[in-house]
Amino acid sequence: MNRRISVAIDGPAGAGKSSISKVVAKKLGYLYIDTGAMYRGITWALLNAGISIDDVDAVEAALSKIQLELRVEETGLSVWVNGTDVSQDIRTQYVTSHVSQVAAQKAVRTKLVEMQRHMASAGGVILDGRDIGSIVLPNAELKVYLTASVETRGHRRWLELKDSENISLEEVCRTVAERDAMDMNRKESPLVCVDDAVVVETDHLSIEETVQTLVDLIRKAELGGHHG
Ligand code: CDP
Repeated sequence: MNRRISVAIDGPAGAGKSSISKVVAKKLGYLYIDTGAMYRGITWALLNAGISIDDVDAVEAALSKIQLELRVEETGLSVWVNGTDVSQDIRTQYVTSHVSQVAAQKAVRTKLVEMQRHMASAGGVILDGRDIGSIVLPNAELKVYLTASVETRGHRRWLELKDSENISLEEVCRTVAERDAMDMNRKESPLVCVDDAVVVETDHLSIEETVQTLVDLIRKAELGGHHG
């Protein structure tokens, strides 16, 4: 039987990390952990409680009162905050436009990274995010940096949003680029492509092709003897 490894998938907004990871995990019987959903859950909770998200002390004080839970369901992961299912609410443009500011804060990252490492401890996991290969799982047997041009990523995100939100393609591309800049330039755990990551450019790959690329990489890594 193949070894069940830890897989780190990082990359900028809209690169397809979560849709691809979900399918790959299902195919391989791995647990998929969407770490972005956790940052979104905390952001939703802070906004819902009326906390001013740029007040670092207020955010830190509020964190202990936020009970965040990821539940594995038939349909995928759901995100719960203090007993409420917020899986839909965390995807709104309102949460999206605030999440990077929350994710830049050290207290928030410390809390979530600890939860993520705990969830990943048994192996057989795919985590996607911004700092998985660099900070959360630096010893992951496979690290992937999934990316595409900002136009491709903005267009994909716009297709997901256009039926539920009144937003133009240009505006989506602009917010994607802004979020990338914040995520790449922040002091705490910025988005980086680590040296030992395999870069997968998805501009000209279909979902199926990207899934297959990752499945092949994981199968190969499962056979490798290295465990960092
Ligand atoms: O799916 P999308 O690319 O829009 O983003 P996401 O994975 O849901 O992540 C939302 C935001 O959370 C990112 O823009 C980052 O600011 C933050 N994040 C992070 O800082 N570290 C992670 N490991 C995952 C997400």
